[in-house]
Amino acid sequence: MAHDAEKEAAARASLRFVRDGAIAGLGSGSTATDVIRLLGERVRAGLKIRGIPTSRQVGELAATLGIPLTTFNEVQEIDITIDGADEFDPQLSLIKGGGGALLREKVVASASRQLVIVADSSKQVHTLGNFPVPVEVIAFAEPLVKRRIEMLGATVILRQSNGRPFVTDEGHHILDCRFGQIPDAAALARKLRDMPGVVEHGLFINMATVVLVARGHEVTELHRDKTTRADPKP
Ligand code: 5RP
Repeated sequence: MAHDAEKEAAARASLRFVRDGAIAGLGSGSTATDVIRLLGERVRAGLKIRGIPTSRQVGELAATLGIPLTTFNEVQEIDITIDGADEFDPQLSLIKGGGGALLREKVVASASRQLVIVADSSKQVHTLGNFPVPVEVIAFAEPLVKRRIEMLGATVILRQSNGRPFVTDEGHHILDCRFGQIPDAAALARKLRDMPGVVEHGLFINMATVVLVARGHEVTELHRDKTTRADPKP
């Protein structure tokens, strides 16, 4: 089964987590976009939710689909966020930020009672690190931070878009840091967080409550402490 079909299956399975009246964090990336399109259908059928988007682009999409939006001026807590990931491991630690929205994604995740990750089977790994860890930096500190991360053993590339440095929604740059296997993701997360000039990094440790991973037609629901089979057709 193609990864696109697995993404769609995981997205469908996530809908049963969304209750009427919920404040919902809206993730970024292609799998999260499937979720948002499905939520749009539910909203048009009468579901009442208010969304907090994790990127400008997602906000625009949600508005187009008729999903009412809100902000942290109005709400302190998000009931549920559904988002994608670039990799997840057995502890449900994540690498995120392939789409460049990691800063808002982490802010939204940190305010969420539940973070449900939707993923195709290619995202499941034993040890994080095959996918580069995105690190969002202020442009001024970028060469310094790059060298410091290289000294930790990574190959570091400044993310480009149309021949220029990629610029995030908050006006920063992204360093894509390939570490290979990351045996202790929590320790690496602390090292990155403590570097002046780093705004945020794409390691999400102890944040996901559930991962819905699709393999073929089957969607498995992974919790940090137990694993059950999810019904892909809610
Ligand atoms: C964006 C992300 C995405 O969730 C991640 O890149 C997965 O994307 P996709 O669902 O397209 O595979 O973290 O910043």
